[in-house]
Amino acid sequence: MEAMEFLDLPPLASARGTVRLPGSKSISNRVLLLAALAEGTTEVRDLLQSDDTARMLEALQALGVKVESLGGEAYRVHGCAGNFPVREADLFLGNAGTAFRPLTAALALAGGSYKLSGVARMHERPIGDLVDGLRQLGADIAYLGNEGFPPLQLQPATIRSGGVVKVRGDVSSQFLTGLLMALPLTGVETTVEVVGELISKPYIEITLATMARFGVKVVREGWQCFVVPAGSRYRSPGTIFVEGDASSASYFLALGAIGGGPVRVEGVGRNSIQGDVRFAEALAQMGAVIEMGDNWIEAQAPQDGLKGISLDCNHIPDAAMTLATTALFACGPTTLTNIASWRVKETDRIVAMAKELRKLGAEVEEGQDFILVSPVKAIASPPEGIDTYDDHRIAMCFSLATFGTALRINDPKCVGKTFPDYFERLATVTTPVPVIAIDGPSASGKGTVAARVAAALGWHYLDSGALYRLTALAAKRAGVAWDDEAGVAAVAATLDVVFEGESIRLAGEEVGDAIRTEEMSSGASKVAALPAVREALLFRQRLFRRAPGLVGDGRDMGSVVFQDAGTKVFLTASVEIRADRRYKQLIAKGIEATISPILQDLRERDERDSQRSVAPLQQSADAELLDTSALTIEEAVARVLGWAKEAPQKR
Ligand code: DC
Repeated sequence: MEAMEFLDLPPLASARGTVRLPGSKSISNRVLLLAALAEGTTEVRDLLQSDDTARMLEALQALGVKVESLGGEAYRVHGCAGNFPVREADLFLGNAGTAFRPLTAALALAGGSYKLSGVARMHERPIGDLVDGLRQLGADIAYLGNEGFPPLQLQPATIRSGGVVKVRGDVSSQFLTGLLMALPLTGVETTVEVVGELISKPYIEITLATMARFGVKVVREGWQCFVVPAGSRYRSPGTIFVEGDASSASYFLALGAIGGGPVRVEGVGRNSIQGDVRFAEALAQMGAVIEMGDNWIEAQAPQDGLKGISLDCNHIPDAAMTLATTALFACGPTTLTNIASWRVKETDRIVAMAKELRKLGAEVEEGQDFILVSPVKAIASPPEGIDTYDDHRIAMCFSLATFGTALRINDPKCVGKTFPDYFERLATVTTPVPVIAIDGPSASGKGTVAARVAAALGWHYLDSGALYRLTALAAKRAGVAWDDEAGVAAVAATLDVVFEGESIRLAGEEVGDAIRTEEMSSGASKVAALPAVREALLFRQRLFRRAPGLVGDGRDMGSVVFQDAGTKVFLTASVEIRADRRYKQLIAKGIEATISPILQDLRERDERDSQRSVAPLQQSADAELLDTSALTIEEAVARVLGWAKEAPQKR
């Protein structure tokens, strides 16, 4: 099996800044389909570039619709006036519900032999209510797999004109959306009656608003009855701009509400046609300070902390997920109700959110259509990472849990469904907990300097060499040879160690001195050369990064473990001076010693640490060189503190 890809997010100290949002997924895919069905050519600007829109674009092209890329986020779609040039096609739509449902409806009424399929999860997402609606009009649709689910086979059929179509509205609003967008293809008046309570109403508003831009006015009576008038046909509006994605906005607004702010999103605002802008109201209810303009929204943390809320989320089903992780930082529990639709999305989102929130130490209660999340004082960061279930929103929601701790996100690329550069954008509006990385060869004095710098700043301190020494010691005790890579890596992954001030306990036993012997120095250097061992210790080291800051010392602090450290120092001294310092240390401890074997040993270790294939000891280009051969400890500490003071956060 291929190794699971992951992304380690640094713990965040604060959030502030402005983000220009990517285009709305919901609007993008509706606009593409209507532009294809319309008469005339449409120039679409600010289209979302993501997996879901790519599936729609591919499908339209496979149907013979000419789509020109105009560079950036602009496209020109040559409408086919309701007649797709290709009458027989096999369409793969991935996991894009916003492509699958409306295309099913449009193709069933347009006529032709079409097979529609998707990824395995798409085949578990219901579509029966839509198929039932289309069959009432005479459409010929067969299930190729399970009854009620994709994949589907459509065949040409005689479409019955006009009348009333009934469709269920309580599983997914996309069925109604699909029907409404396809009905103008019949040219006669048709009435759609919704059976059951219509969920996610704001998405229907997006559908109606987008249809109106293309010249079709649906007459609506409440939320149960929709009439598509006779003679309706789509005409290109010329140029159309896609609004920013209001669901994507939710993560940044929540960042502002949790991490100080203000964080501003541009591309949606007061005039948005997307229901998810009302997420801002939910944040305001939690206490956040919200401001809104025509085309922007801004969120700031309240003076006295966020409050837990109880909210019916029918109107913001997607953005509501963001509330579930924001709830971790409130001062009371948050209950989100009327979210049964979560169960038929990219994954069963109620199950997935509950499971992953529990990994952070949250108390969670879940039911058929609700979730209750209690706040967590100190968020626990699971070493195995947060699983994302091929669900972009889970990955993005959980990035909020990094206020306070580093967090590993598994399969982070799933954000590509709607927001391929989400994590890069996240970095532009957040400041991580600062790190000073001090690397250098053995006995250079970096341990002493690093510990004193940490004490001076009141920051945490990581002696990463101790972890390699502990691994060597634990391996020896477990009878695992130091060259047995898999064996030592397993030992490293499960090290039971507690650092407390000067004390280091391995499986409960004090080992501060036991790991400092020459034997363990040599063992540490050997196990440190094994890639699997370094991998096993990577996230453990990152977890030491906690507010207000961390000073890490080792060989690869700046080059691998904390690449985004604001201050990087390469601390060294000539090998003779280092040998002399080590000699004096040993004598002072009453240990007999002679210079020449120490010198010899240091040279060998330097060689091994700097020649190994992974994370070799090297001064990286962005590190300050600090040669302590002629410096006192105090002078070296002062130098590092000076650099740290000047350091801008490198992100
Ligand atoms: O700093 P130290 O002497 O305690 O380190 C012990 C060994 O661990 C040393 O041989 C190099 C290795 N090490 C490493 O490879 N990477 C680190 N970040 C720290 C130490």
